[in-house]
Amino acid sequence: MTASGTLELPGISDGNFRIIAGIAKNYAGICLSEKKKSLVYSRISRRVRQEGFSSFDEYCVFLTSDAGSGERQHLVSALTTNVTSFFREKHHFTYLEHLLLQKLYSRLERREELRIWSAGCSSGEEAYSIAMTVLKSLSGVPNLKAKILATDIDPDILGQARLGSYASVEAEALFEEGALPFCRLESGRVVMSDKIRDMIRFRHLNLIEPWPFSSCFHAIFCRNVAIYFDRETQDRLWRNLSERIFQGGELYLGHSERIAHPERFGMESMGYNAYRKVSSGGKRS
Ligand SMILES: C[S@@+](CC[C@H](N)C(=O)[O-])C[C@H]1O[C@@H](n2cnc3c(N)ncnc32)[C@H](O)[C@@H]1O
Repeated sequence: MTASGTLELPGISDGNFRIIAGIAKNYAGICLSEKKKSLVYSRISRRVRQEGFSSFDEYCVFLTSDAGSGERQHLVSALTTNVTSFFREKHHFTYLEHLLLQKLYSRLERREELRIWSAGCSSGEEAYSIAMTVLKSLSGVPNLKAKILATDIDPDILGQARLGSYASVEAEALFEEGALPFCRLESGRVVMSDKIRDMIRFRHLNLIEPWPFSSCFHAIFCRNVAIYFDRETQDRLWRNLSERIFQGGELYLGHSERIAHPERFGMESMGYNAYRKVSSGGKRS
């Protein structure tokens, strides 16, 4: 027993670790090396106890059975990291503002629809920050048409994102960005306004499986998602993302992600973990 009275589980055997790592890789593209064993232990043992299994052996037998398909989804949710915040990696929002004001403004004035994708959106702060940047930058465009797609593999975190309600401690970042007018305070929480929420569609999507749409975007945020993918999976993702960006559009990655030789995917580096689509292959915007 632990001090809190819960059952202490014995460590994960090599065989069980391989089962868990195999599911993470096949289902979500996440690569877990042996070094991650203690992290896996701490994240999964809670799940094992919660579901009433007495050992990792028992849990892994269930995971690999036909009845375990739902649990495999929960396993992946427990293994993924959902850390995010409003206006995280601020420079990308500055690039986006520049793209909107310098390159797209006149086309948007002519009623072209603006399309942006937050791929791996977690609890939604990234998508809401994009929406606020769009509204702030384009307040002078009458009848603006703007759509933001926000996707994630984790259905639970998408549920939180759809609520658009955050602990008031997050209000500080919004205040600093002059974004508080897009929110209201409700029972000590910051809640996104209807105008902001109406711009965003939250959808379940696994980035390593075929995508159920063929539309292109002016900008894609895919940040701090591919960090756990192996090189081959990352390259496939970069190619697929590039195909969904209009020529001249931009792709933003997380602080420890970069594309080696972006020209392989018709892109060029344009700043800090940011890439511009230069050659055709995707549609022209
Ligand atoms: C660390 S969060 C990043 C959130 C946000 N993009 C940011 O940078 O603040 C990573 C998100 O990627 C999601 N994710 C991991 N693997 C994925 C996959 N194969 N397909 C789609 N989303 C995935 C996780 O569920 C998690 O919500």
